Amino acid sequence: MKPELLSAHEITSALDGGYWRVSVIDETESTQNLLRTSNPKPGDLITTEYQSQGRGRLGRSFSAQKSTALLFSFYLAPKCERNNWGFLPLLVGMSVANSLIKITGDSNFKCKWPNDILFNEKKIAGLLVETLDDGVIVGVGINVSTTQEQLPVAHASSIFLETGKQLNRNILLAEILAGLTPLLVEWETGSNISSLIAAYSRLSATLGQNVQIELPGGKQLGGIATRIDSSGALVLDSGELVTVGDVVHLTSKLD
Ligand code: BTN
Repeated sequence: MKPELLSAHEITSALDGGYWRVSVIDETESTQNLLRTSNPKPGDLITTEYQSQGRGRLGRSFSAQKSTALLFSFYLAPKCERNNWGFLPLLVGMSVANSLIKITGDSNFKCKWPNDILFNEKKIAGLLVETLDDGVIVGVGINVSTTQEQLPVAHASSIFLETGKQLNRNILLAEILAGLTPLLVEWETGSNISSLIAAYSRLSATLGQNVQIELPGGKQLGGIATRIDSSGALVLDSGELVTVGDVVHLTSKLD
């Protein structure tokens, strides 16, 4: 099936307000890099059909064949304290997971702390959050129509492979942004962080799991993932706070 092309008009006309300024480009090295060098303003977003040097977390690459994935980066300048910015990827992850659940009607999409979206423990999407001046560039890569042969790594999958559905990327992006805007407003006001933590926890594939965490520098931590705190850190049963790392889900505490 021929994929639909990304269209800034389709994306913005599906959105109510005028917060997001969407640009579509056919190909680029990486939307993260392009946005970083374009003197971005809050709400600027770039999406592309293809990245020649897509980047993942912790120096990894993120590759996807042309038009099979939804790839985008946007710039935000959060009004709340920098110490709490670790919550931002959780909000974006929530909006991605909620949008996928809404559009596909399948509730198996979950958030893996801190930056992945899973479907039955297989990675469907990843997020990359990088600071720039007084703000952050958030990059999102979602495997939409990727086939088995096109998957970059064995533990990954795509929306198509898991649900059999071919999603329209313009509709998906508009849904994600429409869901994200009120979450950002609620988070920035800081008035009801406990309801955001509760909403994230309901979507979490990590909480309740016996986890192993690979910390930058090669150290490892283990324990039961117990809760998320207001800065977005993962709290283990030992009381230890984890702010960065790669999480491996071992067995669920509830098994
Ligand atoms: C990860 O899974 O490690 C994060 C992947 C983030 C990929 C997205 S695709 C759009 C944006 N541009 C990039 O080069 N990376 C992010």
